[in-house]
Order: sequence, then structure tokens, then C-alpha cells
Amino acid sequence: MAVNGSAGEGIPAKLTGQVVVCSIIAAFGGLMFGYDIGISGGVTSMDVFLKRFFHSVYVKKNHAREDNYCKFDDQYLQLFTSSLYLAAVVSSFFASKCCKKRGRRITIRLAAVFFLVGVALNAAAMNLMMLIVGRILLGFGVGFGNQAVPLFISEIAPPKFRGGLNVCFQLFVTAGILFANIVNYFTSSHPYGWRISLGGAAVPALFLAIGSLMIVETPASLIERNHPERGLATLRKIRGVQDVQKEFEEIVATTELAKQIKHPFKNLMKRSSRPQLITSALLQIYQQFTGINVIMFYAPVLFQTMGFKSDASLLSAVVTGCINVVATLVAVFCVDRVGRRFLLIEAGIQMLIAQSITGVIIAKFLHATNVLPKTYSFVVLFLICFFVSGFAWSWGPLGWLIPSEIFPLETRTSGFFIAVSTNMICTFIIAQAFLTMLCRMRAGIFFFFSVWIVVMLIYAIVFIPETKGVPIDEMNEKVWKKHWFWKRYFMPKPDHYLNRKNKNGSMKKCSKLSKKKRK
Ligand code: BGC
Repeated sequence: MAVNGSAGEGIPAKLTGQVVVCSIIAAFGGLMFGYDIGISGGVTSMDVFLKRFFHSVYVKKNHAREDNYCKFDDQYLQLFTSSLYLAAVVSSFFASKCCKKRGRRITIRLAAVFFLVGVALNAAAMNLMMLIVGRILLGFGVGFGNQAVPLFISEIAPPKFRGGLNVCFQLFVTAGILFANIVNYFTSSHPYGWRISLGGAAVPALFLAIGSLMIVETPASLIERNHPERGLATLRKIRGVQDVQKEFEEIVATTELAKQIKHPFKNLMKRSSRPQLITSALLQIYQQFTGINVIMFYAPVLFQTMGFKSDASLLSAVVTGCINVVATLVAVFCVDRVGRRFLLIEAGIQMLIAQSITGVIIAKFLHATNVLPKTYSFVVLFLICFFVSGFAWSWGPLGWLIPSEIFPLETRTSGFFIAVSTNMICTFIIAQAFLTMLCRMRAGIFFFFSVWIVVMLIYAIVFIPETKGVPIDEMNEKVWKKHWFWKRYFMPKPDHYLNRKNKNGSMKKCSKLSKKKRK
């Protein structure tokens, strides 16, 4: 997730200790986000937790004759997971304002505060209300963190290292998911295991809170908020050299230009913004409708549905978590070598194979009340790992990277806000609907996601241009204006369209005139 700068010629390319330390501290925001994604599935499969907060699910789950597919179908249980993402959608709007008016550093601090209060409420929860309110506060933390952290990292990174540092944010997200899976595995049999699991989020949150007192404010934010001297001093500090005049002047020029745009959202609605807007919103929708979060949120529940015992289910979630981290590393090294399109298309095919074969196995061998034969359970576990690895080196990081590099300066932050909020809305939909869909559609759910993957594959092949190695400020000229389809959005409108519009416009004017005359 980054809002990159230009090609960066003449800018010191040294990666200083300051930049590395500040980026790592900020990336703890990603770790918190990941921890929240990974923790809820394990907690909602723990008997002690279900018995206390979702008694009917507990009874259903342990009822011998209960339908495999519907054991966990409960609106409140889903709300426990999804409420976080709804809060994140709402808060990311306020976070984008806070980022602009008060700076990135304070926005990151606020994220940590929301997180800490949310964690305290969750770990100490005595009733469902405390749980949900806690989750909502965590959602505020995610909204503030996800808006500010990527922006922060890309604004302090030297241009040459921006892509790599950008994918590192996703790497922290995956590390957070894995950390949560491991915690769940060790706490599941403890009577207060769920409290420890939910309270564990305090670790990354505390790191972020303490760290946010040490990080610098970004030069761009200082200059944007009329503190040019402080901006210059910070730039010298993070670049480790005195001669930063060229970069300083570039930031000043960029912020001046950005300040002239009074209505960035209106600008975003212009015809020439449509290719980037449509592509980044669709990337988020496709990313979520691959079905990835079904595994991230509900893997232990899914594995239990297939007949794994509680412990084995949590262990399987740890396995998928490891694959997720390792495969994201592949993206860090490959994304600037083989290009975005290759990864998107290759992984799309890989995910399609995994989803559809899983669907066939489940449809054939998992009925309402039996247990999936052992061999097939392992085949499904393998297919899920195959699916997760594909996602992790493609649609996962690229879903964030591409929207951050395709917008021109005047619509970059507002465009990125649309990407973040579309992602959160889709994440909310999946979290809220999956267990009910599993109950109603049964194995069909895997074919539902397969159809989405086919659609996204076609979109990637036909409509997504290659952006590897293109300087961000030349994206319109070198990419969009040359694309067989998108180039039409940069051409004057076709004659018949203008004629129709003029006709309508002049007809309206005429009728107004004749009305006036008549009066
Ligand atoms: C997605 C998350 C997902 C995670 C899995 C991110 O890119 O936005 O929704 O849970 O990847 O690693």
C-alpha cells in the first residue's frame, strides 16, 4: 500500500537506519490488522467462548445430528467478526481527514489508542455488548492505521525502495495472522484461552503506541501543514545527508499543486479518472471475492466442518498462516522482476484450480452428518495451502500496491481512500455472510468463489495494464493512454455523444426561453 513519488532521480538513495526503524515501527499497524484477521476464527471455534457468548451455537455444534454445514450459522457470531470491518470503513474516512489536517504520526498514535482500549474491552468482556464495542474500537484502530501507515512508509522511504517497503506492510499483515493462529493453538484448551487470545493484540498495539512516540513526522505532511523548516530538517535527518534541496523542492512543488485541488473527490469523478477508479475498486472487490478471508477468518471453523478435531483445525490454520508469510516473501522479490500481470494471471489460475477441486471433493464426500474421509481432508488442506500461496504472491499485495501507483497526484489520496474503503466493505460482507452462505449453499460456496475468480482472471487478462517499472507520474502517458480500451477515456468525447448532449441541452434552454417568452 503506498502512494509513491516520481522516478526519484537526484534523490539520495541511501536506506538510512532512521527510515528502516520508523518503517518497522509503523508496520506494527499491519501486524495489528493481521492479528485481528487471524484471531477471530480460532476464538469463535473455542467451546468455552461459544458457551459463554453464543450458547445456541455451542449447543448446535455439539449436537450429534446437527448438519455439518450449519453448525456455526449465527448472525451474532458473524457480527463479532464483521463489526470490526464496518467500523473500519467509517473510521477510514475520518482517518483520511486526520492524516491531512493533523499529520500521519498523530493518526498512527490514535490508531494505537483505539486498539489498546478495544483490546482491554475484549479481553475483559463480561457480555456480548462489551465484545462488540471492543471489536468496533479495534475497527477504528484498523481504519486509522491502514490509512496512515502505508502513506507514512511511502513518504519517508527513498523512491528506489518504495515498492519493497510497500509489500513489507503486507508481510507484517501476514505475520500478524500467523502470530494469531499460533496464539490460538496454544490457548484453545485453557479455560480463559479466548481472553488470552483476544488480549494478545495488546502486544503489537503497545509496540505501535510506544513506537509512535519515537517516529518522525513525514516531511510531506510537515510541508503540507505549513512547517517547511521542520520539513527540511526532518528530510535531512531521514536521508542522512545535508544536501536534500532537490527532493525538498519536489515535495514543495507537489504539495503546492495538490493544495490547488479544492475538491479531490470531484476530480475523482472526472472521465479521465475512470480507468484508475474502476480498476482499483474492482481489484479490491476481486481480492475479497477470491474467498481468501473465508480461510483467514474461518479456517478453524471450516476445518471443523470437514471433520477435523478442534486442535487439528487450529494447527491447520497455523500451517496456512506459515504458507501465507513465506509466499508473501516471494512477492517481495518477484513483483518488480516478473511484473504485476504475470503474478495476477498465474495466481488466478492457481486459485481457480484449488477452489474448484475443493468444491468437487466437498460436494462428493461431505454430507450433512458424516465426516470427510481422512485422505480427502489432507487433499483439501493441501489445496487450501495451494490457494493461499497463490493469493499471497499476487492479489494480496498487488490489491494494495496497484491502486497506490496508478493515480495521478491530484487524485492519489482520495483514490486510495476509495480503495481502502471498498476493501473494508467487501471484507465486512464476506465476514458477515460466509457462515450463512455455507449453511445454504453447502459445497456450492466454493463454486461461487470459482466463478468470481474466472471473472477476475478475464479482467486481469483484458483490462489490467502492466505498471512494472513505470515512473508513477508518467503512468497516464505511458500506460493508460496507450491501453487498447482505457485510452478512450483520454480522448475527446465522440461526436454523436456531444451532439446528443447539445441537442438535449439546447432543447432544455429553448423550452426555458419559450416559457419566458410566453410569460
Ligand atoms: C487482504 C486481507 C487478507 C490478507 C491475507 C490482505 O491483502 O486485504 O483481507 O486477510 O491479505 O493475507
